[in-house]
Amino acid sequence: MAESMKGLKRTHRCGELSVANVGETVTVMGWVQKQRNKGGIIFVDLRDRSGILQIIFEEGDCGTGNFAKAEKMRSEFVVAVTGRVEERSGAVNENLATGQIEIRAKEARVLSEAETPPFPIEEGSRTKEELRLKYRYLDLRRPDLQRNLILRSKIATTIRAFLSREGFLEIETPVLNKSTPEGARDYLVPSRVHPGCFYALPQSPQIFKQLLMCSGYDRYFQIAKCFRDEDLRADRQPEFTQVDLEMSFVDVDDVMDATERMVAQVCREAIGLQVALPIPRMTWDEAMNRYGSDKPDTRFGMELKDVSKVVEGCGFGVFTGALEAGGSVRGINVKGQAEMPRKKIDALVEYARGYGAKGLAYLAVMPDGTCKSSFAKFLTEDQLQALVAAMEGEAGDLLLFAADRLKTVWAVLGALRVELARQLGLIDNNRFDFLWVTQFPQFEWSEEEERYVAMHHPFTMPMEEDLEKLQEDPGAVRAKAYDIVLNGVELGGGSVRIFQSDVQEQMFEALGFTKEKAHEQFGFLLDAFRYGVPPHAGLAIGLDRFVMLLVGAESIREVIAFPKVKDASCLMSEAPGQVDPAQLEELCLSLVEEQGEETE
Ligand code: AMO
Ligand code: AMP
Repeated sequence: MAESMKGLKRTHRCGELSVANVGETVTVMGWVQKQRNKGGIIFVDLRDRSGILQIIFEEGDCGTGNFAKAEKMRSEFVVAVTGRVEERSGAVNENLATGQIEIRAKEARVLSEAETPPFPIEEGSRTKEELRLKYRYLDLRRPDLQRNLILRSKIATTIRAFLSREGFLEIETPVLNKSTPEGARDYLVPSRVHPGCFYALPQSPQIFKQLLMCSGYDRYFQIAKCFRDEDLRADRQPEFTQVDLEMSFVDVDDVMDATERMVAQVCREAIGLQVALPIPRMTWDEAMNRYGSDKPDTRFGMELKDVSKVVEGCGFGVFTGALEAGGSVRGINVKGQAEMPRKKIDALVEYARGYGAKGLAYLAVMPDGTCKSSFAKFLTEDQLQALVAAMEGEAGDLLLFAADRLKTVWAVLGALRVELARQLGLIDNNRFDFLWVTQFPQFEWSEEEERYVAMHHPFTMPMEEDLEKLQEDPGAVRAKAYDIVLNGVELGGGSVRIFQSDVQEQMFEALGFTKEKAHEQFGFLLDAFRYGVPPHAGLAIGLDRFVMLLVGAESIREVIAFPKVKDASCLMSEAPGQVDPAQLEELCLSLVEEQGEETE
């Protein structure tokens, strides 16, 4: 039977009480973590979002009625208790923030009873994630998730305070939109009033924030929900949150400066981490050549080395074939792993195949100086020595090589380097390595579409010195685009925007947009630019990823209250769901049978 809390008022959260409160009469309310009946004396651990507190019931203190209620308390019952704060009569619990005290109950009320939950509500749950997500409202009671969401809230508050202080205005932009230019698939919403027409949910507020610059709101920010229908991974959700900002009358350095001071402030306030400013910068070229990645994890070495020159003309067809096809041969030196078992090397080859490798050549420099290798027999002794020297190989090292198109070599070795560092425990988890990656290529060749696509988005400004290459050599144009990277994760990215219509036209041309298509998609932005547009630039940080890295979680699902799973469904609400035929009719929509079956 649920009792009312009439006449009772909570005075403290459980975790707020300490020895400083000894002697006070307090009222606490929360969930029963555990009840232990020791015969004549009952201990109840009471939990709320602030922590756990021990309550002690003795019939002599609280009377028979209240004692009887305590006898009936089970895990997850919601109860209110009034009593006196005392120093613990029994042993102090060092593991508990409130471990020196307990509440001697005088009055208790059971506000709500609870069925036995499908899994225990406890720190560091070993329950399968699927079950936890089905009962997310119970999962969210666990202290680890509560800490994550509390920190997330604090981070959002810090960001708002920082940006407001810096003169940014928080402005909301619409969720029902025309398609936005971030390049992922859109989520569409059918319009009832305009049959056959659809809104697109924003992949980012990009166009609107640029329009706000045109309207004179020279510093904008928004903690914005974004939607992208793309393949999900640990750091990707179909809906996620960006800290989105845009500034007028600025260039690259101004955006980077504001961003890194914001990031540093968040790190300091959220986890007491001092980030040394300025954050180091590296060009995209350097990042790719040294780490094979545009979001390098710089917490460990194992950098890529280009050995194309060294193996030119050698007798190993895999190497020379790749070079003759215009590719590259590069390697990484896995220090001290010469004796890695063959089975493990084979597993690495398989891993590399997942990134497009046709194989992986290896050379182990054995402790006695001899070499064990998949290709040494094709090289002369001099060539072999030169190769080992180029890789700075020493006795005991394992050298791994990929020969392919440069893009594939980078992808393979970049991924392998991170995987090996993980396997070999080379990563210091207490380190937070921030890095700016700058001067991204303006375009990326899309094999699928057989045309150049914008690497960032079509409004990104090329570097002035590369402007003339826009027409004849688009692949060589670098952009005024930058990403902020933390521990090998792309935290955010942005760019200086094009604000001259002639440059914008050249961009659309290079991207293969006709004038009509550009106008159809982005006409209102192009029109706005005809009425006075300030130079502007901005960036967006992935808030979910930022919080994930600060709390040390493996997935952004651990820092999102109600996340979706890999197939973009919600295991709790079972969204997406089917809708009533009447709703479809109202929207003038009819469903087509799945392929293979006859359509109506
Ligand atoms: P971009 O597309 O790089 O830039 O996105 C910015 C940041 O948003 C985060 N992010 C995601 N987080 C979780 N799940 C996803 N599916 C997901 N997709 C992106 C990443 C990423 O770095 N409008 C531009 C920004 C600008 O130019 O100002 C933009 O959206 O952390
Ligand atoms: P194969 O010529 O396919 O028998 O391969 C000989 C060795 O070279 C094997 O160890 C392969 O794993 C390796 N190998 C094959 N293709 C590549 C490649 N593109 N890059 C690096 N190593 C390769």
